[in-house]
Amino acid sequence: MTTIADSETRALERAAGLKLAAYRDAHVAERVRRALVRERVGDANELARLLTRDPEARSRFRRSIAISVSGLFRDREQFELLERALLPPLVAAGRRIHVWSVGCADGSELYSVAVVLGRLGALERSFLLGSDVLEENLELARRGAYDGFEVAPAHRARVRFEQRDLLLDGPPRGKWSLVLCRNVAIYLAPRPKRALHALLAESLARDGLLMLGSSERIADARALGMQPVAPHVYRKVV
Ligand SMILES: C[S@@+](CC[C@H](N)C(=O)[O-])C[C@H]1O[C@@H](n2cnc3c(N)ncnc32)[C@H](O)[C@@H]1O
Repeated sequence: MTTIADSETRALERAAGLKLAAYRDAHVAERVRRALVRERVGDANELARLLTRDPEARSRFRRSIAISVSGLFRDREQFELLERALLPPLVAAGRRIHVWSVGCADGSELYSVAVVLGRLGALERSFLLGSDVLEENLELARRGAYDGFEVAPAHRARVRFEQRDLLLDGPPRGKWSLVLCRNVAIYLAPRPKRALHALLAESLARDGLLMLGSSERIADARALGMQPVAPHVYRKVV
């Protein structure tokens, strides 16, 4: 396995504009190893110099760290759970519904929630925000066109996207009724992952819901004032 010295990590962090030290060591090492081959450079310092002078190599490296797999209704059972059990009580409460998709990739996750809110008759009083570290993801998200499926104007009108590095910029203002942070923290080292979960818990309104990916959990939910309410879903209780 490629091992990377701390000084090399710092050089790559400056060149890539990413907080690499927060990602799992093995993930970063593997992505650096692949970049050395792809870019035909000898070591991490040389790679850092390349990323500083070549914007395309920099984008390739950023993309390889921030893996952007997503899809409409990805992990369908999670959207069924939202529609059947989790969102109806929020809708019935009659307040505005604020949804934040953290690491929204191409926006398909957030548009899927918009479709569900539309089916529940709550779209008009919903605001949905998607944030991601990669600008190119946000361009795709704003386009809202997927393999023969075009997002309807009514859904598009409720949705905004913004560039935000969770590890450097922190959360957007406001308290959220539903936060989706699926398949983002799986690439993080344990301590930054705990810090991210704490930040997400803090961002929720009381009784707000946090949905993680279908292989994820919060290590100590109670300490964050979060109660498990369904597989990979937590409610803010304090
Ligand atoms: C595997 S995708 C998950 C997409 C979507 N949440 C889903 O599950 O379908 C991970 C996303 O997290 C984003 N990401 C990675 N590191 C990030 C960071 N530090 N700040 C914000 N977004 C980040 C990536 O750009 C990517 O779009």
